[in-house]
Amino acid sequence: MKSNIGNDAIIIDKVTHTYKTDTGLLPVIKNLNMTVPKNGFTAVVGPSGCGKSTLTKLISGLLKPDYGEVYLNGEKVIGPKSIVGMAFQNPVLLEWRSILKNVMLPLEIVPNDLSEVDKEDRAKSLLHLVGLEGFEEKKPSELSGGMRQRASLCRALVHNPEVLILDEPFGALDAFTREDLWQVMHKLRREEPFTGILITHDLRESIFLADEVVVLSGRPATNQYSLQIPKLKNPKLDNLFSPDSIEMLKNLRKQIEIAQVQQATN
Ligand SMILES: Nc1ncnc2c1ncn2[C@@H]1O[C@H](COP(=O)(O)OP(=O)(O)OP(=O)(O)O)[C@@H](O)[C@H]1O
Ligand SMILES: [Mg+2]
Repeated sequence: MKSNIGNDAIIIDKVTHTYKTDTGLLPVIKNLNMTVPKNGFTAVVGPSGCGKSTLTKLISGLLKPDYGEVYLNGEKVIGPKSIVGMAFQNPVLLEWRSILKNVMLPLEIVPNDLSEVDKEDRAKSLLHLVGLEGFEEKKPSELSGGMRQRASLCRALVHNPEVLILDEPFGALDAFTREDLWQVMHKLRREEPFTGILITHDLRESIFLADEVVVLSGRPATNQYSLQIPKLKNPKLDNLFSPDSIEMLKNLRKQIEIAQVQQATN
């Protein structure tokens, strides 16, 4: 079914989701609206437990909304979608496969016309792009946490997904490694444009990487606030210390506090 709502790559239209648990109904997302333009990148922030990971499952078709609809490139999501690439806080790489073979995995699952050599070339070029050239034949346990996360980003992108969903991909990394990976993300966006949603708890990460930051209310999560981030030609970590950035961070911090209070009193 095609949407006639617009040309956005991701459309979340009045989505509501309630979990049925042993102790009763748990409303998690309520009447949520969001759009991400093609090749846009939106960060989603909100209190812990407000429903962010649930939202990623609704977008990727792993969960079905009770009300409302999700569209990816105009197609209504009615089940798991192979045009979605995902990366999580824990990279979950398969230890018995080399890094190269881990990155190639989606190409073995998602139908495509690539020969074995083409698949290898595609995976190798991404590994090269993120600075993992020379590590193709290593096993995941031979890599550092930051390197494993780089490989996981390559795996999420290897089949040229139309949409990339990142659920706190840098959450488990130390601050410096995380900042390195932010730069890798900018490089990936330049060289391999994708439409993305980034779930994060790190407000600096949200303004450094995204074009728009959406603040979700406390559970059940709905739209509380949204901030457009001015696009910089050449984004540098130093920009995070500019008066404009500090103002944006204060503003977002205040919104998170409002959402936290609301969640605590719900
Ligand atoms: N499969 C499930 N069945 C029942 N309840 C669930 C299920 N998955 C999540 N929940 C509950 O739904 C709420 C939202 O969970 P979710 O994982 O979406 O939050 P989150 O915003 O991603 O949290 P965090 O920031 O800590 O990762 C939580 O109260 C959680 O306990
Ligand atoms: Mg989560």
